[in-house]
Amino acid sequence: MHVWKYLSLLLSAAAANPLSVRSTACNNSPDLCDKSYGAITHLGAHDSPFVRTSDSVLAGNQYFDTPTQLSAGVRLVTAQVHKDNNQWRLCHSYCTLMDAGRLSDWLATIKSWLDDHPNEVVTVLLVNSDGASAAELGAEFTTANITNYAWQPESLTTPPASWPTLRTMINSGKRLVVFATPLTTSTSYPYLMSEFDFIWENNYDVTTPANFSCEPNRPSSLAGSLSTALSSNRLPFMNHFLYSTDLAALQIEYPNASYVSTTNAPSGGNGNLGTAATTCKAAYLGRQPTFILVDFFNKGPALDTVDSLNNVTNAVGRTTVSSSPSSTSSSDASMIGNVFKGLVELANSAKSGASPSVGAWIWAGGNWNSVLGGGISF
Ligand SMILES: *[C@@H]1O[C@H](CO)[C@@H](O)[C@H](O)[C@H]1NC(C)=O
Ligand SMILES: *[C@@H]1O[C@H](CO)[C@@H](O)[C@H](O)[C@H]1NC(C)=O
Ligand SMILES: *[C@@H]1O[C@H](CO)[C@@H](O)[C@H](O)[C@H]1NC(C)=O
Ligand SMILES: *[C@@H]1O[C@H](CO)[C@@H](O)[C@H](O)[C@H]1NC(C)=O
Repeated sequence: MHVWKYLSLLLSAAAANPLSVRSTACNNSPDLCDKSYGAITHLGAHDSPFVRTSDSVLAGNQYFDTPTQLSAGVRLVTAQVHKDNNQWRLCHSYCTLMDAGRLSDWLATIKSWLDDHPNEVVTVLLVNSDGASAAELGAEFTTANITNYAWQPESLTTPPASWPTLRTMINSGKRLVVFATPLTTSTSYPYLMSEFDFIWENNYDVTTPANFSCEPNRPSSLAGSLSTALSSNRLPFMNHFLYSTDLAALQIEYPNASYVSTTNAPSGGNGNLGTAATTCKAAYLGRQPTFILVDFFNKGPALDTVDSLNNVTNAVGRTTVSSSPSSTSSSDASMIGNVFKGLVELANSAKSGASPSVGAWIWAGGNWNSVLGGGISF
């Protein structure tokens, strides 16, 4: 065959199937391209946009911002969405406590990262604290110009029996998977999935390392029913982060950063991620958790456990980040001072007539509503 003809055949084959070349990596590994999205483990950054720029930002869950997380290997990012000043913003429980900006701006940074990383599949999970409608959330995705990337399930009510492979998602260009909870879905926004129709989670509110559990906790219909959860076709989602209870008297829980090197470690120490993941995989009859959600993802490093579950030994295309915090360490006492500062500001704004919306304190554990209603004065 004439070499040019051969070459052009090759080129057209490549155009039809841009990932046919074996050496191409999907989600940082050539070995993952032909795995189903639901059969691999995606590392998740809990409360991804809430960054501890300094240790005085007590409510922060991560040391690095979302694009840095993604470049380092995180493939699931979660955030809380609140309504403030008629805008949908990423706030940690209250916009007066921690405000990471507009949802659409954050989505635009993810869109830009996807543009720059064409072989990666990313998942976004939104805690819809103030009950945005599918149309309201969808408008944010449209503003961010990210909807072209959004993958759509065949059904918005029934999880797929098997999810597409990463290669299929990448080749179709639909490589952003979006969940929100709670959410009333709409066929006008067919990429916005209601989390608990597709996923079940273990307990997230853990304050002592011995208490990490593999048992289903949410949705409530599956709580404690492992075999039902496993046979429901939903994806197993493993929360693995630890809260400090130093402020338990105020019903405030905040991320335990002092123990995170153990919490996220691949082995060794009570409550380490590696042992927890292995234990859960065995409990799930060999099914590895599809998602593992951690605070301070760079510690551990948490990726070691995820790579091990995925049998990945040859990760490529990751930017290494320090396993040390990016912020300087200061005492918990100064952090606590800042929480009180946040509470004082919140209480003052409530007193001055503003009515801060009281979103469910999902994933942050505490109950500020009862604090404010409980007559504590500052
Ligand atoms: C939206 O993103 C697509 C690529 O996903 C790009 O081709 C298009 O120019 C973008 N539109 C705007 C208005 O930026
Ligand atoms: C740990 O779990 C046990 C058994 O479920 C429970 O009794 C105990 O209260 C938990 N401890 C904490 C600190 O949550
Ligand atoms: C973090 O957890 C460890 C292990 O349970 C505990 O010893 C430590 O006091 C906790 N730190 C904070 C700030 O809660
Ligand atoms: C990794 O290997 C184990 C053991 O062979 C297997 O059960 C699991 O499905 C593999 N996971 C992936 C993502 O390849």
